[in-house]
Amino acid sequence: MTRLNIKIVCIISLFMLILMTYGQWVAFQERENEYAIQLSTITDFLIRKIPADQFTALMQEQAITERNIKKQLPSANQKLQPELEHLILVPQMIKYGFYAQDFQRIVALGPELDRSLLTGVDPALFRELFATDVPKLGVQKNSVIWYGATTLYHVRPIYANGQIVGYAFACLNLEGTRTELLSKAMQTIAVGFFILIVVIMLFQEAFIQFKRELELFAEAIVKGRARQFESKIPELTPILQYISDQTENMTRLDRLNIVGEMAASIGHEVRNPMTTVRGFLQYLSKKKEFKNAHEHFDLMISEMDRANQIISEFLSLAKNKSMDFQDRDLNQIITDIVPLLQSDALRSCCHIELDLNPIPLVRADANSMRQLILNLVRNGIEAMTHGGTLRIHTTQHKNTVLLVIQDQGSGISAEVLDKLGTPFLTTKENGIGIGLAVCYRIVHRHAGTIEVDSKTDQGTTFTIRLNCCDGVTQKDKE
Ligand SMILES: Nc1ncnc2c1ncn2[C@@H]1O[C@H](COP(=O)(O)OP(=O)(O)OP(=O)(O)O)[C@@H](O)[C@H]1O
Ligand SMILES: [Mg+2]
Repeated sequence: MTRLNIKIVCIISLFMLILMTYGQWVAFQERENEYAIQLSTITDFLIRKIPADQFTALMQEQAITERNIKKQLPSANQKLQPELEHLILVPQMIKYGFYAQDFQRIVALGPELDRSLLTGVDPALFRELFATDVPKLGVQKNSVIWYGATTLYHVRPIYANGQIVGYAFACLNLEGTRTELLSKAMQTIAVGFFILIVVIMLFQEAFIQFKRELELFAEAIVKGRARQFESKIPELTPILQYISDQTENMTRLDRLNIVGEMAASIGHEVRNPMTTVRGFLQYLSKKKEFKNAHEHFDLMISEMDRANQIISEFLSLAKNKSMDFQDRDLNQIITDIVPLLQSDALRSCCHIELDLNPIPLVRADANSMRQLILNLVRNGIEAMTHGGTLRIHTTQHKNTVLLVIQDQGSGISAEVLDKLGTPFLTTKENGIGIGLAVCYRIVHRHAGTIEVDSKTDQGTTFTIRLNCCDGVTQKDKE
């Protein structure tokens, strides 16, 4: 356990201990109140059982027949004692019985008779207890009835002809009861404490596992394997999936930003000398001296043009490239470039299928949209080396417009899929690897998302989501 955890366990345990002790104390108080009521009920019951006149008659009878108190008491007891035996529901810690005023002694005692309490006690010791003319509840230390223990008692005088002839009494051994309650409380606290420790340990275990999973996940991110990471805690999977997606997006954007900044700074510088070289090449190609090298000059110029085109595409990655955002009809943009796409497709024996549905306007830069569609369609056509159909589909989904470009080509391997959008990533002999990087950049600047779904030898589907005009957040203002 770490130091922090020990602290937490101690604080929680202490808190629980205080709470449990307080709970037991309240229960203890309530229990004493219940006992007080019980004592009063017992004395009331006794008086009802032996009414005052019957009690008086019995005592007088004993007084007449037996002159000696040592004989009178057992004799009176014999008559009264059986009456006490019906009180079977009285707890063990309570003694009850009758006290006769004439004899100044206890004459009957339940639940078990102790003869020494009848005759063997100095009457002076009972005086304090039976010195009331009204029913009385009190606490007595050094109780004779409970052999010196502290008791809670209730005494009820028995009146006959306005005179007190005796008392019904009930005494609870408080010390015994307290010890019993205390041991019960200790048991409850011990069980509670044990449960608490078990619960804390279970939490601790879950926490450690959780921590371990997060550490492994962080390691997977560093190694670039966040996507493949499988958590042993299923509840964590969607969160980790989301984090891995976001991390991947951030890494991709980071790479794009670096390349974009590079492009912005060197693009123009390289283009200017190239324009000069191209101009001179064109000029020289027309000279008589180079008549025989005409083909070479054409090749050099076309290579210059290709290089220039690459730089142009590269420049579109630049972060600060200006864009003209307006409300556009994506279907219209697609329709406008269809002839260009068809001619590309024909050359590769492919077929383009349009499935354009009514969609709301999107806030977009028309040139960027054209370039996005062109790059994706070209990739699709290039992947369908044996021909096939490339489908361009638009539709509305909630407050977004979906542009789906689906081919029946070779598909993208998992290795390439992971790095898709990274500049200069290409599997083609003559490819530059900039097309998709530009696409990702364009979609990002339109505050949209791009998703890829690819199956080897079955084809690839790119899905671009763009916000409808009212919900758009323009990244061009960034
Ligand atoms: N529709 C697709 N089907 C199969 N593979 C694809 C598809 N789109 C992209 N790829 C893979 O992704 C790689 C990168 O694509 P990207 O368009 O960025 O570059 P490229 O096409 O190779 O070169 P260029 O810069 O000329 O476009 C491709 O080389 C290809 O392996
Ligand atoms: Mg491409």
